[in-house]
Amino acid sequence: MPALFTQDLYARALHFAATAHAEQTVPGSDVPYLFHVTLVAMEVIAALPHHPDFDADLAVQCALLHDTVEDTATTTDDLTQRFGAKVAQGVAALSKDPTAAADVADPAQRKRVMMADSLDRILDAPREVWAVKLADRITNMARPPVHWSAGKRRRYQAEARLILETLGEASAFLAARLAARIEAYDAWLDG
Ligand code: NI
Repeated sequence: MPALFTQDLYARALHFAATAHAEQTVPGSDVPYLFHVTLVAMEVIAALPHHPDFDADLAVQCALLHDTVEDTATTTDDLTQRFGAKVAQGVAALSKDPTAAADVADPAQRKRVMMADSLDRILDAPREVWAVKLADRITNMARPPVHWSAGKRRRYQAEARLILETLGEASAFLAARLAARIEAYDAWLDG
């Protein structure tokens, strides 16, 4: 039986992400940011047996690199040169674009506009990219940082429902997992 994905490509993308995220930590914790990145890749890999039609290497590389453009100095051009156009375009779709909300002042509204813009771009991307977004939100629907207000928690849960509705059809396996996480998040709504 062949490997589900190419281990050397995984190692190369993980090394790039480790270097790019460097000293960053998961918000509200001392845990290295790479913990988040590898959890997202793990969720994608767990889904792969359900998706023999997926380009597994595209999915795994996009998962490992998904926050490099949004959160580090890495550019889409850097990713194109090192990982090819398909991976770079997938990561670009997964990255919030602040210019999409350039004329919006309210911070919560800015987030909504940037999320809608990213979802629009993900809908134009291959299903593997949809799966990475589902995996990202599954990972992020764990216990929220203690400093998050009740309002922010409710908005985050509502945003997760929008992601599930918009992208869930890409993977029944990941959609079921995200739906369960959204329900379990109720326990954290009131802090
Ligand atoms: Ni992420």
